[in-house]
Amino acid sequence: MKRLVTLTFFVGTTFANAQTESIIKLPEVTRIKGKNIMEAFACRASVREFDSKELDLQEVADLLWAANGINRPAEGKRTAPTAMNSQDIDVYLINSKGAYHYDAKEHALVLVNSGDYRAVVAGTQQAFAKASLFLVMVSDLSRFQRGEESQKLTWAAMDAAIVSQNINLYCAGVGLKTRPRVYMDTDKLREVLRLTATQIPMMNNPVSF
Ligand SMILES: Cc1cc2nc3c(=O)[nH]c(=O)nc-3n(C[C@H](O)[C@H](O)[C@H](O)COP(=O)(O)O)c2cc1C
Repeated sequence: MKRLVTLTFFVGTTFANAQTESIIKLPEVTRIKGKNIMEAFACRASVREFDSKELDLQEVADLLWAANGINRPAEGKRTAPTAMNSQDIDVYLINSKGAYHYDAKEHALVLVNSGDYRAVVAGTQQAFAKASLFLVMVSDLSRFQRGEESQKLTWAAMDAAIVSQNINLYCAGVGLKTRPRVYMDTDKLREVLRLTATQIPMMNNPVSF
């Protein structure tokens, strides 16, 4: 039975304070924050140096919402567009404590697997494995209602890249570091994230201070 953890003070609250065998309800998104949009574009860059300092839950909440959260609740629509509004992209967060699925409707993190799987996402680029966290974009091809298999893969790549760019711009806007990446140990990641046959890991972004 999964337990719902509701934390009263999110600023300064880290994953170390939250319990791992649980659903972590994220704090409400901060609506006014960061640089203006043109300054964020001016700062956008892929970095190679990441540190392991944990982000607090408010920062994680804002990052996930910017990546692919629901910004129009009446329609259930997202910060990232998708081909035919298929909403095929799921974002998974991987940090030193575990692998979590971002449930956008509940604005919550759901534990998928305990443990430190950052090296799996880093893949052949182990220098990135110490990043505080990774966001992994997974497309579920079964959510495309039409199209040939090759078209679905193209749309999935586009949809994943848009989420990645949301992350890039959010990080630029608030002074966090990131890098869009395709390298990862995809086979192992499929096991860690307990993916079905139609769910494909497409891209990832390490994120840190
Ligand atoms: C689709 C895509 C995939 C990428 N995959 C990787 C990757 O697997 N590993 C990596 O180190 N960088 C990766 N990058 C980052 C690029 O190397 C980087 O964006 C490029 O060098 C330009 O630098 P800039 O983003 O700072 O402008 C990827 C970028 C994109 C857009």
